[in-house]
Amino acid sequence: MYENWEELEESIKQCEKCKLCKNRTNIVFGAGNKEAEVMLIGEGPGADEDREGIPFVGKAGQLMNKALAGLGINREELYIANIVKCRPPSNRVPEQDEATACLDYLRNQVLLVKPKIIVLLGSTALKNILGKEYSITAARGKWIEKKDIMYMPTWHPAALLRDENKKIEFWNDLKEVRNKWKK
Ligand code: URA
Ligand code: SF4
Repeated sequence: MYENWEELEESIKQCEKCKLCKNRTNIVFGAGNKEAEVMLIGEGPGADEDREGIPFVGKAGQLMNKALAGLGINREELYIANIVKCRPPSNRVPEQDEATACLDYLRNQVLLVKPKIIVLLGSTALKNILGKEYSITAARGKWIEKKDIMYMPTWHPAALLRDENKKIEFWNDLKEVRNKWKK
């Protein structure tokens, strides 16, 4: 556990704990407000994120930003990170050994940010944070409380690009988060 953001980031830049280190251009550490009350957790960097070193800057990210803005939330108010910090080849789902190797970094980020609410974006985030027994289809849209943190599982924004019907549910889930947070 690093007490200090710079040391944590530096250790990830040098990380070779899993095979995803081989193809990365940049690590995607995380971004936003380091004292945020709300944290968003995605899966892992895509091509755009790998190039820029910033989470959710590609198509899915832009859609998410738009939804947040529509709810009066600036993404800079939140802290945003991923399960894995290096891009999986052709955007495949991170393998279990990769997610497990990387998870300590995310835990460290959560300990430093101390969020009240964590939004789990998609199945990979849900299963790695709360447990394999959860299914995103069944769990999305419902609050889960664990160790003084309220979790809201919802669709991964990339899923909205494939299925229009998920947009309204994603929107409603984020609205639920905003209402709890800003009440
Ligand atoms: N998808 C993710 O899960 N994370 C990102 O940072 C970008 C796309
Ligand atoms: Fe290290 Fe995580 Fe990158 Fe794997 S994905 S090399 S564990 S930083």
